[in-house]
Amino acid sequence: MPLDPAQTLTLRVSRREPLCDGIVAFELRATDDRPLPAFDAGAHIDLHLPPARPGEAPRRRSYSLCNPPDERDRYLIAVQHEHAGRGGSAWLHAQLQPGDRIDASAPRNLFALQPAPHTLLLAGGIGLTPLLAMAETLWAQDRSFTLQVRVRSRARLPFARRLQEAPWAQAVQVLADDEAQADTETLDRLIAAQPAGTRIWTCGPAGFMAAVRAAATRAGWSADRVVTEHFAAPAPVPALEPRDRIAPGGFEIDWAPSGQRLAVAPHQSVARVLQAAGIAVALSCEQGICGQCCVQHLDGPADHRDLVYGAHEHQVERRFTPCCSRAPAASRLVLAPLGWTPAT
Ligand code: FES
Repeated sequence: MPLDPAQTLTLRVSRREPLCDGIVAFELRATDDRPLPAFDAGAHIDLHLPPARPGEAPRRRSYSLCNPPDERDRYLIAVQHEHAGRGGSAWLHAQLQPGDRIDASAPRNLFALQPAPHTLLLAGGIGLTPLLAMAETLWAQDRSFTLQVRVRSRARLPFARRLQEAPWAQAVQVLADDEAQADTETLDRLIAAQPAGTRIWTCGPAGFMAAVRAAATRAGWSADRVVTEHFAAPAPVPALEPRDRIAPGGFEIDWAPSGQRLAVAPHQSVARVLQAAGIAVALSCEQGICGQCCVQHLDGPADHRDLVYGAHEHQVERRFTPCCSRAPAASRLVLAPLGWTPAT
């Protein structure tokens, strides 16, 4: 029987493989080799890492699944050592070895593929990982696609052998910044050369994805033809933007199910205030990029600062990410869990 996707999964590291400078792949399997919860291309899992310091909460870090989505016996992730990161990737590189066990969430997908006449997958460095699973899916479904990967140098290209040996290798183009080809292949030219109706899925550094969006806008593409996934929030993280200093003073939140009224100081996140009041909020990235903490926004002026939801999710589905989103000073937000409705 497959594992229940709603539970925390305990996984075993079955393989660890250095891929290139600073990037290691980890293959994870169920401890009893049962089938794992299924996933679609673009999905990620959250690994549960030990606290950075004694007494602190465990850390969660999201990693895209990059093996073919029809595989049920393993999850494959690749972790880039972020020297300026928050310590999660450093811990994984230093500590996690074959045979070790690690807890993880079941796969979640905020970056799903949708049908298009042609799909252009644009990766910046480690942003290749979710796009690999997409290439596998598009190839298996006999759909038209191109995968372009941009890296600083070939030494920093993860999965080089897989890209060369895949049955869809003819759809792959690798551009290295230190090779002349990268200079001549601008995003404007690339986008201009796409077949009618092409849509782009892109993942990589924030500046790279902003350049992709800007090039698509210059070409007259509508915004919905470019789908992005952030693996880190652009610095500074939203909760620490200078807006907090420009508008000093906190605000209040009402938690509708219990009627609790809570004060949020300028330096506090809504999520941490809710947790301190005994209200369960699942936290993962704490940067507005994973959607894990999402609650329902019932009333009040929300200042949405996440990078995961668009206007429809904010205004129609009423999604609010309390890890980073806020409200103007001296205002009041009314929040509840997703799906909560008042008793009649
Ligand atoms: S914890 Fe990731 S969006 Fe809030």
